[in-house]
This record gives sequence, C-alpha cells and structure tokens, in this order.
Amino acid sequence: MDIMPHDPPDHRLRVLFATSELYPLAKTGGLGDACAALPAALVALGADIRPILPGYVSALDTAVHKRTLGPLPGGGLLLLGRTPDSFLPVYLLDWPELFRRPGGPYQDPDKRDWPDNLRRFAAFSAAAAQLAVQGDGHGWQPDLVHANDWHTGLLAAFLALHDGPRPPSMFTIHNLAYQGNFPLAEARALGLPDALLVPDGAEFYGQISCLKAGIRYADRLTTVSPTYAREILTPEFGAGLDGLLRARAADLVGILNGIDNELWNPAADLALPAPYDARHLAGKRAAKATLRHQLGLDPAAEGPLVVAVNRLTQQKMADVVLEALPALLDQGVQVALHGEGDPGLEAAFRAAAIGRESRLAVRIGYQEALAHRLNAAADLALTPSRFEPCGLTTMYAMRYGALPVTRPVGGLADTVTDIDTAHPEATAGTGFTFDDPTAAALAGCVRRAGNLFRDPVAWRRAQRAAMGRDFGWEVSARRYLALYGDLVAPEVQTRPRFLALPPAGDPPPHAPRRPEPICLEAAE
Ligand code: ADP
Ligand code: GLC
Repeated sequence: MDIMPHDPPDHRLRVLFATSELYPLAKTGGLGDACAALPAALVALGADIRPILPGYVSALDTAVHKRTLGPLPGGGLLLLGRTPDSFLPVYLLDWPELFRRPGGPYQDPDKRDWPDNLRRFAAFSAAAAQLAVQGDGHGWQPDLVHANDWHTGLLAAFLALHDGPRPPSMFTIHNLAYQGNFPLAEARALGLPDALLVPDGAEFYGQISCLKAGIRYADRLTTVSPTYAREILTPEFGAGLDGLLRARAADLVGILNGIDNELWNPAADLALPAPYDARHLAGKRAAKATLRHQLGLDPAAEGPLVVAVNRLTQQKMADVVLEALPALLDQGVQVALHGEGDPGLEAAFRAAAIGRESRLAVRIGYQEALAHRLNAAADLALTPSRFEPCGLTTMYAMRYGALPVTRPVGGLADTVTDIDTAHPEATAGTGFTFDDPTAAALAGCVRRAGNLFRDPVAWRRAQRAAMGRDFGWEVSARRYLALYGDLVAPEVQTRPRFLALPPAGDPPPHAPRRPEPICLEAAE
C-alpha cells in the first residue's frame, strides 16, 4: 500500500449551507429532502459543502460521529457530525434552551408555533454568520454561504451588514408563503440592527420579515423551479414580495430541484414488499395488494387506487380534495390519504372515511415509510396545488409509477406533461393536469385518468414514460455550482480542484455513501 507522507492540500470549494431542515435529521416537508440531497450531489461533484442545522433533539439523536468544536461567542455550542446515510459533514448549533424541545422544528407538540421563533432563528442565523466570518476554529472557513428559506433570511442580512471581509451569499426561496414575520418590537428587543427595521431593510407591513431579509440582502437569489421564478414576480404569486423580487429579478434564477434517486428508488426501497422497475411491475402490484390489505380497502375493486400524501393545507388544495371525495368515490376509484396539517381538515377527512372504509382510507399523521408504500401502491397520485414552488411529491410519484393528477403551476408545470387522452400514443405524457382549482375540475381530471386506466396498453406506456423521466440532481447541482463559481472571489475561482470538476455529460456521480476525511486537525 502506498503511504503518502502528507495529505494533498484541499482546494475544494467550501460552502456553508444553512438550513432548518435536513432529512433524516429534521424534516417537515420537501425543504428537508432538498436540503439533504443538493449538498450530497454537490459533494459528489467535488465541493466541500457543509450544512449547518439547529441542534433539535431529532438532529442530535440522528447525526453520527458528533464532536464538540467549542462555544460560540453569541451563545450555544458548535458541534460537527455527519448524516447517517450520506455521511455529509453537518454543523449543529447545540443551544438547549432554544432547540432541545419536544415537538417539531417550528411548533410545539400541539402544533402551536413556538412563541420565540424569531429569537430561535435569529440566534441560528447569527451563529451561522459567525462561522462564515470567523471559521469554525478548526481550520475550516467557507468561500460562500448558501441560505435557505425564511429561517436563514437573517443570515444573509447579518453578512451584508457585517463590517469587514465576509463571504458572498446566496439565498434560495423554497416557499414564498412562509415568511417568518414577527412584531418589530420583538426584533428591537432582541437587538436586531436598526437598518433592518425600515422598509428598505426587512420591514414588511409593520413587521419584520425574515424572508424579506433574505431576498433583500443576499448577493444572489434562486428558487426551486423556473416557472415559480417567473410566477413570483407577479402579484398573484408574489405573496406581497413581488415588488422587491421584480427589483432583484436580474439576480434571481429558478433551478428545478432534483430527487434523491437512491432514497426514492422502487428497485431498492426497503419499505416496499418487493422491488420493481419500469419493465418489471410485479412488485408494484404486490405493493398495491399489500397496502389495500393493510388499510382495509376492498382487495377486488377494479378502478384505480388514488393516493394523496401531502400536508393538509390550502397550498395543497386539501379543502378541494375533501370536497371532491364524494364525486371521486362515485366514479369507482379507491382513495388512500395520508397527511397532517390543518386540524379542521384532519377531522373532516377522518369523518369522511366513516362508513366508506372499503373505498376510502384516511391515515392522519406523518410516516416516511408509509409515504413510500403509498406511492408504490398507487395508480394515481393526487398532488394538486394552488401554487407550488417545486413539488417533490409529484416527482416521487412518477418515479414510483403513480401518475399524478395535478395543476400546471410552479414546479408542477416544469415536471408533469399532460397526457392527451384522445391520442395517448402520440405524446410522452406523464400525468394529468387541470386548470381550475375546483372540485369539479379535479373530479373531471380523475375521470379522464380513469378512462385511460381501462386501456392497459396506453396506461403502461404512460407509466413507463413517467418512470423513465430523470429527476436526479446532477444537472441542477451543476447549475448551483456554476452560480457559486460566479459569486466567489477570483482567487477561489482559480483554485486547481475547483477547476478540475468532472465535465458535464460524464456518467452521473454517486453521492458518497461512506465517510470521506474532513479537515479537523485541531480537534483530533
Ligand atoms: P412541501 O415541501 O410543500 O410539503 P413537496 O412535495 O416538495 O411539498 O415535499 C413534501 C415532502 O413531504 C415529501 O417528501 C413527502 O413525501 C413528504 N410528506 C408530506 N406529507 C407527509 C406525510 N403525512 N407523511 C410522510 N411524508 C409526508
Ligand atoms: C417547499 C415547497 C415545495 C418544494 C420544497 C423543496 O416546501 O412548498 O414545492 O418542493 O420546498 O424545495
């Protein structure tokens, strides 16, 4: 075995990636998926990207190889660990008073927002800004900071207002509807800079908006699909921030999220009774039979099995799905719904299932494995949205051979091609779309899909087209890398390893599923 006397210098591009969710350490929705898979894809392309996440109980419990780097001047302890599956290095801000609580990242166990969320995420943003400007105290300092969603909007502001050298920042909008708005008095009491508390700062209709801070102060902006990037410049989709977004339109780009093709792979998914792929669908039939049995649905029903796995919110049109249920069941489809969210909708869905158990299964809650099993079992996936920044659920459904029934907005418009049911052989459609956000339009679309379901050859063709779509991260990860390259200082741009990235078109690299050494000399 060759023994190298010294490790070669590490010229990789160093990115601090700030997020409030990262699967499997913390997840309430697609943010957790995207913020796990993008960094893994960037590591595979040769970047040294390190997420930083609040030290929630779930994150501290799930991260492996944790070690303490030291206290941060503003409060809290900085830890460095790894994710258990992709072995990404991840910084954790361990601040028990703020983050070690029962419940979710943003809410208590009764689903009420934590009353000190501004303090929690301002503290997290300040800690990340400190790490960005001073390094981790163990030899690592980022060339660039990439922040995500309102929880890290103040990070971009703190960097921009920092008096001294600082790395450039990028801010990704995953959802404009969650803005992190809080009373100005609270911001003042926390000592946030006065510059933030004015309309040209982060003030928003008499409050402080953490999302506005990210949009106003980051050097570069992205969002998670090209269509959403255009939509949010309009009053209809701009959630009150379209004016500011139009002012920054030259700095905004839409890059479609990918999916983790290893985690969401029906050919190797341990949550399923049997593996399958586009050419061998016996495992999908087994998944349907098993799920029907487990949920108490009629095993002999002939119509399509329609599943819905989603947050029960206005965004996801859960109210319209509820209203459409009687019409759907009248068409002879079976429906299996798994979700949580609005308590009124949760109760209404539970009530709707009473007396219809063989045709309608409702499971309120949040179970990762059940989400996988539902996609595998499904013929159709209901994923309509009033607006949708990207919509990972729809991509997962297609990969699992469940054809989506959805609306052509945001990322859904970029990922689903409507099947021309009059000439199914003529197009490579991958799902069914409808325009009006109404129960009648939704039910009409499911009827159109049900007609195609009765034509097994056409159905199989559409299923193959959907399963054959490449939703992997590689192309998009390269686009992020190119943007990073534009932003960083010239001396970083010319570092040898950064220039030696594999050219586009090479076989897709795999995210490392084993630890690579991380530079931590002083702590060893
Ligand atoms: P959003 O982030 O707006 O919720 P996405 O479709 O991008 O929408 O991502 C949703 C993610 O959350 C997917 O991984 C989906 O499987 C998951 N998910 C949503 N609801 C549930 C649930 N009740 N149980 C398990 N997973 C869920
Ligand atoms: C948000 C959006 C969703 C997107 C996800 C990941 O939660 O609602 O559309 O897929 O973020 O970017």
